[in-house]
Amino acid sequence: MNIAALDDSILGRHTPDPLQFAFTGKTQAHAGRGGRPILDPALQSLTLEAQLAGQPAAGRPRCLYLHIPFCRVRCTFCNFFENAASPAWIETYLHHFYDELARKADSAWAQAAPFDAVYVGGGTPTDLTAAQLQTLGEEIRRRFPLADDCELTLEGRLNRFDDARFEASLTAGFNRFSFGVQSFDTRVRKAAKRLDDRGEVLQRIEQLVARDAAPIILDLLFGLPWQDESCWQQDIADFLDSGAHGVDLYQLIQMPGTRLSELVAQGRQPVPANVPTRARMYAYGANTLEQAGLQRLSVCHWARDARERSRYNSLAKTSADVLPIGAGAGGQINGVALMQTRNLQDYQQQCGEGRWPLAMLMAPAQHGRRDGLIKASFDKGVLDGTVWAAQGQDGLFEQLRPLLNVWQERGLVDLADNRAELTLAGRFWSVNMAQGALLALQQEDHSKENVDVTQRTGGGAHSAPRGSNHPSHGGATGRH
Ligand SMILES: C[S@@+](CC[C@H](N)C(=O)[O-])C[C@H]1O[C@@H](n2cnc3c(N)ncnc32)[C@H](O)[C@@H]1O
Ligand code: SF4
Repeated sequence: MNIAALDDSILGRHTPDPLQFAFTGKTQAHAGRGGRPILDPALQSLTLEAQLAGQPAAGRPRCLYLHIPFCRVRCTFCNFFENAASPAWIETYLHHFYDELARKADSAWAQAAPFDAVYVGGGTPTDLTAAQLQTLGEEIRRRFPLADDCELTLEGRLNRFDDARFEASLTAGFNRFSFGVQSFDTRVRKAAKRLDDRGEVLQRIEQLVARDAAPIILDLLFGLPWQDESCWQQDIADFLDSGAHGVDLYQLIQMPGTRLSELVAQGRQPVPANVPTRARMYAYGANTLEQAGLQRLSVCHWARDARERSRYNSLAKTSADVLPIGAGAGGQINGVALMQTRNLQDYQQQCGEGRWPLAMLMAPAQHGRRDGLIKASFDKGVLDGTVWAAQGQDGLFEQLRPLLNVWQERGLVDLADNRAELTLAGRFWSVNMAQGALLALQQEDHSKENVDVTQRTGGGAHSAPRGSNHPSHGGATGRH
């Protein structure tokens, strides 16, 4: 690896304080993926048909992702809001959704092996009625082969998730619940258009935890307007007191076009915490959770006990298969990445005509397995050469070693023999580092291709193509 060809956007800055200043900022939630887009709708369908008619790769983990793209209220910060919840729209949507679900479940590919994890995400799936939630869980279990210990997660929010909905979901087989809390602070919540105040949220969590039926997982965001460092410290303390079984700490990704960006631009809400402040917030949260005895499962997820496995989230970040169902859902089958149309009318029309509601397909990336392993390892915070070799990526650790040496000097990894662990600073910057590692590897791939072409043609020097920064496939997958 030619380190001299890499700049600080990959290497990180040389700074005495890498936590706050190694990189400039996080602009996306995940590192992107490679692969050539298939744009022709007929070819998209044929490609998916061929995958569904075939067999899965032996031993590769399998997940289902189902998307419910409705919310009652649009939160100011959210990049995921899609459609206002109207009972009539939801009924019509579910009709087409079950049609798609049945057609996919009937495929040879789906029936060939059990699924390890199922994630119903959104939007706000917990807003479905108790009867709809019961049908949803039952249909998933009736139609798909599921592993005995399959994790079935229902995502959503606490507001209006009453006992009838909770009991119906449990009866239907959901065995993990992931709720967006974002912040417990009433002022922060109201400014973000969250519906309940701190007391109501804490009380509902306490009730769900006391039922002792399934792990209750909470998402917290850091960097919202009004959420200063002392507010964040209280958010972490509230989580710890709540008794919930796991927590995700997500840095706010401020996208142009969100209500939050408009309100801030108009001076009607304070500018959210800057990147160094967010870095300190992350460090405070991570350190406090770990001092309280929680186990770190990834750079942004902690579990109170073994009951919380976070199986979907860890599998979906590898090259596991994820079969997507619903408008706006994304996934991948045998390395083919797919994103379904987000537009409800389009979704319903395509399903109604017996077609697959596709928006985008990407042919398998040349180094898809390697890149999947890189992304999953950075997300976990551990790069292990022995594990990589066992997964068919012999030599990958050595290839990255020059970059790891620089990152060690810059305080981003602790390197020992064949293994590197991201430091606290490295864990805060893990998406930038994963993206950097992928770009550095792509540059090597391109230089090797150029050498090969030169040798084959006997030609002179070609200028090396620049490493391209492929778009991520962008469908909702429940991974944030
Ligand atoms: C798609 S939302 C669905 C959860 C649910 N509807 C709710 O209201 O909490 C899942 C998670 O994405 C995260 N999220 C949403 N907008 C985000 C943003 N702009 N930056 C970072 N994370 C975000 C939130 O933490 C949220 O809990
Ligand atoms: S945070 Fe949840 S409820 Fe709010 S707009 Fe996003 S998906 Fe909908």
